[in-house]
Amino acid sequence: MALRSVDVLIQEHRAVERVLETLEGLIDDFLTNPEVPDAAKQELGEVSDYLARDLVLHIQKEDQGLFPALGKFLPTNEGPIAVMLHEHREIDQTHQELAQGIAELEQHPSVGGKAAAQIRDHGRCLIQELRAHLYKEERVLFPFAETCLGEEDDRVILRKFDSLAVGSRQ
Ligand SMILES: [Fe+2]
Ligand SMILES: [Fe+2]
Repeated sequence: MALRSVDVLIQEHRAVERVLETLEGLIDDFLTNPEVPDAAKQELGEVSDYLARDLVLHIQKEDQGLFPALGKFLPTNEGPIAVMLHEHREIDQTHQELAQGIAELEQHPSVGGKAAAQIRDHGRCLIQELRAHLYKEERVLFPFAETCLGEEDDRVILRKFDSLAVGSRQ
């Protein structure tokens, strides 16, 4: 059955993709400027805030909401859930490296500098990791969830989403 919880996650994927497109455009623009322009710094700050707040919350919703419910049908220490959990840790690591580069941009605004290189390398890596990750969730794990979870599971998962969202605002 169609699940509202999965629908919420898919909507969030579309938002993540829009932010990745922005990030990709900003990184491409680096190549044509000697210094990262102020407008780009501002946009990168917004991307960083989005990732720290919304992407982290999205990952928590899967780790603590959807995946435990799927754990009744699939092992969580191997197979697709284990792969997704591992990718979440990798995405988080890459995101931290990117955020560090963005935070250092104020002191090192040169496009040839260390902060810009960190943004370029880890930004590109994050774009690639996330696009592949979202694709796998939507092709494999979410359809599986919709074949095996029911209304009551959906309600429990949505309640967990709500409590995580409240927690993330505090
Ligand atoms: Fe995920
Ligand atoms: Fe996801």
